[in-house]
Amino acid sequence: MQLLVNIDHVATLRNARGEGYPDPIEAAKVCEDAGAAGIVFHLRSDRRHIIDDDVYRLKKSVIGILDFEMAATDEMIRICREVKPHLCTLVPEGREELTTEGGLNMELVKEDYEKRVFPAFKDTGIEISLFLDPNPRDIELAHKLGTDTIELHTGTFANAPSEQAQKKELERLRHGAELIHQAGMKVNAGHGLNLENLPLLIREVPYLEDISIGHALVSKSLYWGLEKTVKEYLKIMNAG
Ligand code: PXP
Repeated sequence: MQLLVNIDHVATLRNARGEGYPDPIEAAKVCEDAGAAGIVFHLRSDRRHIIDDDVYRLKKSVIGILDFEMAATDEMIRICREVKPHLCTLVPEGREELTTEGGLNMELVKEDYEKRVFPAFKDTGIEISLFLDPNPRDIELAHKLGTDTIELHTGTFANAPSEQAQKKELERLRHGAELIHQAGMKVNAGHGLNLENLPLLIREVPYLEDISIGHALVSKSLYWGLEKTVKEYLKIMNAG
């Protein structure tokens, strides 16, 4: 299991004033120096946080895993093929959303992914991960498409309104992880994770590999500093 830090919201803070700081590339370096296995960024179509120049600078500077999170538009596919990250996580993207709101609906996208998206990544060497809710049908369709990895959407677990709802979602995540693993795919996870809910996720859900954490980690770093915050997350992951 390893930590990938999503640095989108370092760019959000930078963009609030249009100055060159804080620089997401510098933040990424601090995270890696503190022990993170890699860095995630989401280049959104509206460029609301990470911008194209950040992507090319991250590619030059990140030593560990670089995870390019994106909607599967022709524009993003072109940039991703050029940048050649280790990992490309495909997510749905809505114009009005504050953040990614859920996993891909595989029934809806499977034909397009089969004909346009997957062929575009063939022979690039980029590992493809699909961001999915823990629905057995979505997992099955993703497997049929030949994805390497599935990132389980943990947002519903993280934002569960009651203990009972959280328990139910954890059970779905556990079952989803088992299905993904049995099918020979890698299990990643992310969204809404923080220092409070991460221990529970790790205890209950097997086979987790890359865990992507952004907003809560970057927020906590305002009080603790980025290095200490990353180390606190790593402590939890290493204990798990
Ligand atoms: N994984 C995916 C696919 C995401 O879209 C996001 C949010 O950008 C994350 C992980 C990280 O979520 P958070 O910022 O809530 O930690």
